[in-house]
Formats: sequence, structure tokens, C-alpha cells
Amino acid sequence: MKKVIKKIGVFTSGGDSPGMNACIRSVVRTSLYNKLEVVGIMRGYQGMIEKDFISMYPRSVSNIIQRGGTILKSARSTDFLKIEGRQTAGKNLLEQGIDGLIAIGGDGTFRGAIELHKECGIPVMGIPGTIDNDLFGTDFTLGFDTAVNTAVEAVDKIRDTAASHDRLFFIEVMGRDAGYIALWAGISGGAEAILMPEQKTDIDQLSALLIKGRSEQKTSSIVIVCEGDDAGGAAEIAEKIKNKHPGFETRVTVLGHVQRGGSPTAFDRILGSRLGFAAVEALLNGKSGMMTGILKNEISFTDFSKATKKQKPINEEFLNLARVISI
Ligand code: F6P
Repeated sequence: MKKVIKKIGVFTSGGDSPGMNACIRSVVRTSLYNKLEVVGIMRGYQGMIEKDFISMYPRSVSNIIQRGGTILKSARSTDFLKIEGRQTAGKNLLEQGIDGLIAIGGDGTFRGAIELHKECGIPVMGIPGTIDNDLFGTDFTLGFDTAVNTAVEAVDKIRDTAASHDRLFFIEVMGRDAGYIALWAGISGGAEAILMPEQKTDIDQLSALLIKGRSEQKTSSIVIVCEGDDAGGAAEIAEKIKNKHPGFETRVTVLGHVQRGGSPTAFDRILGSRLGFAAVEALLNGKSGMMTGILKNEISFTDFSKATKKQKPINEEFLNLARVISI
């Protein structure tokens, strides 16, 4: 029988991403609209362990739709990795009377949610919040679009100076295990090459491509390197190329955490609003243990086990496109 839910807890966990606030706002207001009580859990699983709870009302989420980061803060809790931590978290939630949970984060957050559910039995729905876009079961994760736009803005600026000085730039973008930011920023920034973990990097091949570009009147080039690339980060790869071709004037830029902040794009605000709404409705309709995502612009639900274990395939069309139009 479907359990009646009266009090929802919402939290953000793992790396923050632009659009999380828009999503929190949507979760809070959809819940209140449905006459539920809402508790904000601060600092993810760590806040659960430390009873860092706040009551939330419509005005608690005023003026946040345009803000990056997360008003609920985030943490990568090591205490929660231990059984005692998870037991304390579960006990604290039950004591608060929380009978439904919305977890916003990446694969680590969802793995935690599976364990938490085992511990306290509270139904939980997930929302994909990570700039990496690396979750199976959704075409887009919250923050990816903003991060790509931030990266492209930087690539455009670097291209100006690269062209003025006839230089070869290596720009490192985020993506611990996935090259989505690299691929999208690379295509939209007109990069000469895109290196990412989904494809083995061959330094000889890269160097041949760069030399060919030179011989065909390319005076400057940009190589986008995903931080998780198998051949190393941008600095390491630049060094390897420089050793082969001392004639190249190389420079390295690591974009880093600048990609994690900033005002979310309209796309991420709408995505956050849609996913927040859908996740609350799903909980009320008796769903649990699933990630609420978006596939072909329709709301979708994927079991946490699949969302966390299955590898999202990189789009072959994009890979081919990047190769062809960068000549
Ligand atoms: O998962 C998002 C992400 O930004 C990755 O791209 C990156 O490798 C990682 O988080 C960095 O994590 P932290 O902010 O904990 O250093």
C-alpha cells in the first residue's frame, strides 16, 4: 500500500552545480503546494549526522533561482561512509518525522541514498546535480549547461590571445571520469583537438594533427583536455608535445572550479525546476529509489542501481562532428 507522505527532507551532496538552487526552490514550493512540511538538510549527509536541519517555507527560497552554488551547502561526508554514521543519519531523520527524501547530487549521492534507505526505510528520489553530465538515465544533469557555457567563454577569450601570438594552448576542463564538458566546450569553442577519458589519447597522433594544422596555415591551435584524460592533465600533455616539437610555443590554462560556480543558464534553471517538481510528484505517487532525469526532453525515472553503475555512452555523432569540422 502507498505510504502517505507528510514531511519531506531535501539535501544537496557532492560537488555543487549551478541550478541546484533553482531545483531546491522547486522542491520546496511543490511540496508546500501539496500541503507537505519541508525540512532543508544542511551539508548533505554530514548535516543529517549532525542534525543540521532547517524548516523551509515559500520565502526561504526567494531570490535564489538565479544564484549558483547551493543554499543548503554541500559536503563529501566521510562519516557517512561508516555504518555508525549512516545509522545516526537514519535515526535523526526518523526522529524529525521525515517520511520522504529528495537527494540532489551525483553518483556518490545516489549510492549513499541506497544505503540510507536500507538503514531507515524512508522513500527517496534523486535528482542529477553535477556539472560532469555523467549519469546514465538522463540526457542532462543540473549545471552541465552552465559549466559548458563558462568553459566556452574562457576558450573564446584564450583564442584571441592564442591567435595574436601564434600559440598552441592546452585548456583543461573539469570531468573526473567523463569528457562531456570537454566535448561540448571543444565543439562550441572550435577546438583543434579534444582529449577525454572515453577515448585513448595517442600523443603521436595528436602531434601529427597539430603539425598538419600548421602545414595548412593554422597559426594557432587550441586543445581541450579533460582533467580525467588517460594521458594526463593539460600541463603533462603540453610537456609531451613540447618535448617532441620544441618549435611550438605552448601555454596551459586550467579552468578548474570556475566551472562549478556562476549564475545558472536559463536551461539549468528550467531543468532544475522541472526535475524538482517531478521528483516530489513521484514521491507522492509512491515512487522511491530512482533518479528523476530527462530523456529526449521528457521526464524519466531510472533506478539508482542503473544510474550509478551503467556508463552513459558518449555521443558518436558528436565525436565524428568534432573530428570533421576541426580540420
Ligand atoms: O563531480 C564534479 C567535479 O567538479 C569534477 O568534475 C571534479 O573532478 C570534482 O568535482 C572536483 O571535486 P572537488 O570540488 O571536491 O575538488
